[in-house]
Amino acid sequence: MHQIKAVFNGNFDYIENIKISPFSRAYTFSDSVYEVIPFHNKKSISYEKHIDRLQRSADALSISLDIKKVSDEINQLLSSLDFDNGYVYYQVTRGQDLIRSHMHSDQLETETFGYITQCSFETKKFNVMICEDTRWCRCDIKSTSLLANVMNMNNAKLQNCDEIIMHKQGTLTEGGASNLFFIKDKNVCTPALSNNILPGITRSILIDALQEKNIKVIEDNFNYLELKTATSAWLTSSTKGIAPIENIVNIDNSLSIDDPLFVSCKEIFESKFFS
Ligand code: PDD
Repeated sequence: MHQIKAVFNGNFDYIENIKISPFSRAYTFSDSVYEVIPFHNKKSISYEKHIDRLQRSADALSISLDIKKVSDEINQLLSSLDFDNGYVYYQVTRGQDLIRSHMHSDQLETETFGYITQCSFETKKFNVMICEDTRWCRCDIKSTSLLANVMNMNNAKLQNCDEIIMHKQGTLTEGGASNLFFIKDKNVCTPALSNNILPGITRSILIDALQEKNIKVIEDNFNYLELKTATSAWLTSSTKGIAPIENIVNIDNSLSIDDPLFVSCKEIFESKFFS
């Protein structure tokens, strides 16, 4: 087995030596939040934004967190790398609870777990499936509770898709593990942030980079049927960067990865993301 460097409750070790209690509330209730912090050429990307979001996610669940300690651990994982490109996964769990009760005790000790792994950031074209967003109404929290994403994405896999695009009663939300952008009437559009969308760091990097170049991004509520007339669409995430969508398998569309506005957006993004 490839030796994955990890840290559990402050102790650094290889992943196979880490022992986690089945009474961890991550295991019984998915009572945990996480971050994925990418690095390129051994340099982390938007590190502060990821740390801030982890703090916000923990606050939303009232999980106490020593953010300085977390940050030191992530930095130690980052400084131990023997590859150039990848990400740190870091999870914060409410702790071990010997009574499996939905209402947790206030005495629990926060449990933390992180590891570092390789990722290529190669641009890959995606086939996606549109589906109903069956998730809860706090998708702005980066929680490990991802069962609806897992179910929808695995249904899409059966249709040879790499990702999904979700809508709540017609209104576009996001991808299964990414945010959505598309070009319509020569405008760059993306669903507006709400409780139903994760405020993606890659999404914000792209919007800021485009605005610096005077390319306006329309953030609004869009019906998924508007994708039928979009000329280009793509997904963004810390591990995908920008992933162009080649086809949406269950609606008529004429998406092109050669749309000149998309090509510019991708160039502008990459010069920022990988700088
Ligand atoms: N997922 N929306 C969802 C539901 C996500 O899971 C992700 C990222 C994003 C994009 O966020 P960011 O640009 O900050 O990575 C949007 C990560 C990569 C994951 O779960 O592995």
